[in-house]
Amino acid sequence: MTLRSVILGTGSALPRRRVDNAELAKTVDTSDEWIVARTGIRSRYIAGEGETTSSLAIAASKRALEAAGLPATDIDLIILATATPDQTFPASATTVQAGLGINDCVAFDVAAVCSGFLYAVTVADNMLRGGAAKTALVIGSETFSRILDWEDRTTCVLFGDGAGAIVLQAQETDAATGRGIIANRLHADGRHNGLLSVDGGPSTTGTVGKVRMKGQDVFRHAVVNLAQVMQEVLDDAGLSAADVDWVVPHQANARILDATARKLGLDPARVVVTVDRHANTSAASVPLALDVAVRDGRIKTGDLVVLEAMGGGFTWGACALRF
Ligand code: COA
Repeated sequence: MTLRSVILGTGSALPRRRVDNAELAKTVDTSDEWIVARTGIRSRYIAGEGETTSSLAIAASKRALEAAGLPATDIDLIILATATPDQTFPASATTVQAGLGINDCVAFDVAAVCSGFLYAVTVADNMLRGGAAKTALVIGSETFSRILDWEDRTTCVLFGDGAGAIVLQAQETDAATGRGIIANRLHADGRHNGLLSVDGGPSTTGTVGKVRMKGQDVFRHAVVNLAQVMQEVLDDAGLSAADVDWVVPHQANARILDATARKLGLDPARVVVTVDRHANTSAASVPLALDVAVRDGRIKTGDLVVLEAMGGGFTWGACALRF
């Protein structure tokens, strides 16, 4: 037997307003044809009045707790991955905590942009297995629309808003066949942080700033780094690509998903794709896609699942688990 962090439930939430490419093309110099051909994106959800990173996170968390069949008061750790917190401080995780009616637990944010959820899961997994907590809510939530430059067609068409959450609990499981997280790997290489960043911040401009990206450079690094980190977690877990039931990747661009799957020799039919309907929701994209595939019946208990993501920093990571 071995102690593992097991996913007991998943949940997600989207803003009310869905914006398709044709609607975007009314205000941005772009077209549905260009966006679909270059990215696979057809629509995204954009937060409106009263919809915030914490409100979406709370809604996703409630669904995850309901799926897990646990009351919020069982949670003793909340980690929220986000690059778009409600405020510079306090951590939005504490707003989520208050919104869920949990009066005492550990709660903090993790900032690793699009790979934030993988960072958060890895931190939670280590805290759970180390005994610092028993049952965690791990959330990715973003309102990226609020830091987009809507005059910059090379970035504004790519992103959307949303949230996803999982309930993770430390459980004794069979080492060979048991459920839970088997392996995690994280990386960062700050030499590239100018390729995908925000041109503001509290300590520099005193403003929030807008997203700036050198898309082609990001694309090139993404395929190489993602294929490498997925191979690393498979090696750590003693598994091969053929053992994988589902890959739940960060949803940035359909072409990156295809190229990465090809590089690893993975069947594209085993890759969960939601980028067409959600666009890139940064830290929310992996838990959002996971929840979609769990609720539509594709991912079942016992399936071998690999999560992966890469984002600004660059930061990247992967996680192999038995669902
Ligand atoms: N609509 C229409 N035309 C657009 C456009 C838009 N929204 N955005 C850019 N263009 C134009 C460019 O101006 C350029 O025109 P030009 O040839 O006249 O100069 C042309 O389309 C090609 O631009 P390019 O940047 O070479 O396109 P691309 O094939 O590299 O695709 C991305 C651009 C951003 C879709 C692609 O680089 C990408 O997906 N990169 C990774 C981004 C990513 O995943 N980031 C998040 C990681 S977490």
